[in-house]
Amino acid sequence: MKPKVLRTLFFLQESAELAKQKQIRVAVIGTGGMGTGHCNNLPKVEETKLVAVCDIDPATAKETGKRCGVKSFVKYQDLLDWGKMDGVVIATPHYFHPVIGCAAMKAGFHCLSEKPMAVTVGEADRFIKTAEKTGKVFSVMFQRRTEPGIKAALEIARSGRIGKLRRTLLISPEFRSQAYYDSGTWRATWKGEGGGILLNQAPHIMDIFVQLAGMPKRLIGRTRTLAHNIEVEDHAEALLEYENGAYGYFYTSTTEPGPGQRIEIVGDRGKLTIADGKLSFVEYETSLPEWDAKNTEMWGSPKKQEVPIEIKDCPRGHAEIARNWARAILYGEPLIAPGSEAIGELELSNAIILSSFTNKPVDFPIDRKEYEDLIADLKKKSTFKKTAKKSERITDPAHK
Ligand SMILES: NC(=O)c1ccc[n+]([C@@H]2O[C@H](COP(=O)([O-])OP(=O)(O)OC[C@H]3O[C@@H](n4cnc5c(N)ncnc54)[C@H](O)[C@@H]3O)[C@@H](O)[C@H]2O)c1
Repeated sequence: MKPKVLRTLFFLQESAELAKQKQIRVAVIGTGGMGTGHCNNLPKVEETKLVAVCDIDPATAKETGKRCGVKSFVKYQDLLDWGKMDGVVIATPHYFHPVIGCAAMKAGFHCLSEKPMAVTVGEADRFIKTAEKTGKVFSVMFQRRTEPGIKAALEIARSGRIGKLRRTLLISPEFRSQAYYDSGTWRATWKGEGGGILLNQAPHIMDIFVQLAGMPKRLIGRTRTLAHNIEVEDHAEALLEYENGAYGYFYTSTTEPGPGQRIEIVGDRGKLTIADGKLSFVEYETSLPEWDAKNTEMWGSPKKQEVPIEIKDCPRGHAEIARNWARAILYGEPLIAPGSEAIGELELSNAIILSSFTNKPVDFPIDRKEYEDLIADLKKKSTFKKTAKKSERITDPAHK
């Protein structure tokens, strides 16, 4: 029997066993700010049971284990050897996501990784391949995909009602203070984080943008450190070019407080806008080429109308991604954010950094080796920040 068929049979058998329990046992690896949020959320999700925690900092591991009433580990390898779980949620700094994720899947555990799935697309490729080879369910924590307005926007984009792409826009202020950057030695360093706003704050909205508009074929990007004492970028911009010649513009920074987050996807049939979470869709009477072929009026322009969009309330957030991951393992439910799809935003962010450092346009898919070499070089020159007084393991209050 072929390995793929064998893997599928094994997965079905394993799922049937787990489905009898109606719950999967989960260990959280990395119990800092976000990991603590997961430890608080998982017991509220009926399909998951928190059974262990792991943190490289012994005091943090012990304290979290005690508070949650579960076993704690310091080394993730020891957790994998213990093995009394069905899956792991990884909430360590980004570099460890693919390292721990691949080890976990090879050891037989399903994996839900925090975003970004990796620092480099090369590592992300390895993560995706390992999931394919092992047949494990691999999802990434892109919880914004569960928001009702975003779901409605994705439905419109996937229905083809926007038409052929003419222009895109993404502007995203993601303000962070110097105190935030100083709260952890790994933060905002090439060695510890592997990038700045493009790797930490912007991935959520970049993921939505890529899901709505698709990938460009080329970009020219620029990154700078404008207003913080950090090694990596705190603002970035890019000019995008799509396969059909459409252009796009992207800007993000941690130097500007919101509001002002904006996505525009303009096609030849309509224009979709998300402004600070508010969705609108304007549809043209016919496609623009069709209209232009018939129009004879010098100052004519197509009729258009704002389409009322029904936004259905639904469960959302980190807990919903965890529930979906568990239900994918238990019952084969389609993943909201499969690992294989989570790479798009990373491809975009890697390309902007590469273009900025090489001062050249970058074509997709980006050259994996060229990017690995650039990051290796930046890591060599990097030092962990001396300004960090102590590690604060506190996440955004919105994520608790
Ligand atoms: N989805 C979201 O909304 C969201 C929000 C915040 C953070 N995150 C992501 O979560 C991850 C962690 O961010 P954070 O803000 O919680 O950082 P943090 O510094 O507060 O926590 C990271 C924890 O991981 C531990 N750790 C480091 N290396 C480890 C290893 N090899 N094995 C086990 N534990 C290890 C650290 O000791 C620390 O406790 C990042 O990748 C970040 O992008 C996601």
